[in-house]
Amino acid sequence: MNEKYDVIVIGAGAAGLMCSFEAGKRGKKVCLLEHSSKIAEKIRISGGGRCNFTNLFSTDSNFISNNKHFCKSAFSKYTQDDFIKLVKNHKIEFYEKKLGQLFCTKSAKDIIEMLITECKNQKVEIYINTKIENLAKKENSYLVKTDKGPISSSSIVIATGGLSIPKIGASDFGYKIAEKFNLKVTKLEPALVPLIFERDILDFCKSLAGVSLNASVSINKISFDEGLIFTHKGLSGPSILQISSYWNKNCAIKINLLPQQDINVLLKERRISTPKQILSNILSDYLPNKLALAICNKLQINKKIGDSSNKDIQKVSDFVNNWTITPSGTEGYKTAEVTLGGIDTKEISSSTMECKSHPGLYFIGEVLDVTGHLGGHNFQWAWSSGFVAGQNV
Ligand code: FDA
Repeated sequence: MNEKYDVIVIGAGAAGLMCSFEAGKRGKKVCLLEHSSKIAEKIRISGGGRCNFTNLFSTDSNFISNNKHFCKSAFSKYTQDDFIKLVKNHKIEFYEKKLGQLFCTKSAKDIIEMLITECKNQKVEIYINTKIENLAKKENSYLVKTDKGPISSSSIVIATGGLSIPKIGASDFGYKIAEKFNLKVTKLEPALVPLIFERDILDFCKSLAGVSLNASVSINKISFDEGLIFTHKGLSGPSILQISSYWNKNCAIKINLLPQQDINVLLKERRISTPKQILSNILSDYLPNKLALAICNKLQINKKIGDSSNKDIQKVSDFVNNWTITPSGTEGYKTAEVTLGGIDTKEISSSTMECKSHPGLYFIGEVLDVTGHLGGHNFQWAWSSGFVAGQNV
């Protein structure tokens, strides 16, 4: 470890690696510090081990932030096409799974190797297992005290990510640094996270654990139409993870278990065409068998459709097309994919990622108050914000 660098980057995740080699390309002497024993662990576990590294349709509308416009500048400077070009240059095979989501064909490790190779090409010095004991500003430079010795630089980049999955290295380091430099941090919450329930809804979900289907889940006007899965604690799956980013305590969510069809109309038709059929059997033409039966048992209506009143049919259709339930909470940072909120974007220049009140101090990636939807958007933010800082440090 040398004593002086042009740039010190803290956090060897998606954004930190991208920023490091981009700064290296500009001839900067870069030191990248990581406190864990492994680099980019979140990339490794992402996308079920295949890393959904970007999304073809990613735009600012896929992000939640107090300032919706903040991410636009970085996205215009480094797009998904730019990252796809990099992936292609490294001959990494990938495919579109659905909805513009691009995944590695083989393994997320291909992306990690690519980023490390790019860093090596630019002679970025990477130090793992390195604890940062103190960070201070002295005149025009930043002094970092590590357990491997003190170093300094004129630019310092905080790329330490959010709070989710602490067991693979997540820490509150970035937020603590913000506090130290008197920067505002917005409210932090686990997001893209399964929802949990209590009492009868929990029992209902538990009895169906493992059952999955396509569902539309909404809070007010925000709605996601994707997969849903019942779990031993409540509900998960893409549509639930997506809505969790908009959920506040005590707020109800509406679930349409059959988004493409009006079950009320269907059941009334079946009352005429197949009057002797049992309600749960009819429902299982449209829903998983186990769910169809569980709904009828829960509502205590499981008779021949011909004997079912309009009131019975209405009860069933309220459940199927408009199930309104209030989660008791989320599974928390232990399973959340991201942290909602972060360093207030008012503190940061959107065109450079530099802190407005502390020249030379940069924040990139998830540590900022920019949170993407599920589907490769969060990595695109890490690449774009990392690139922009890399051009300006
Ligand atoms: P990131 O968390 O990647 O990196 C931060 C780094 O800083 C880590 O290496 C950490 O160890 C290090 N660090 C923390 N504190 C430190 C300290 N005090 N000193 C030194 N180093 C420190 N997104 C997506 O777009 N597509 C996907 O498929 C998925 N899938 C997915 C699955 C799972 C299970 C999770 C948890 C998350 C995802 N995500 C995702 C989200 C995505 O992983 C996340 O948004 C990015 O990794 C954020 O990139 P950053 O570089 O900002 O942080």
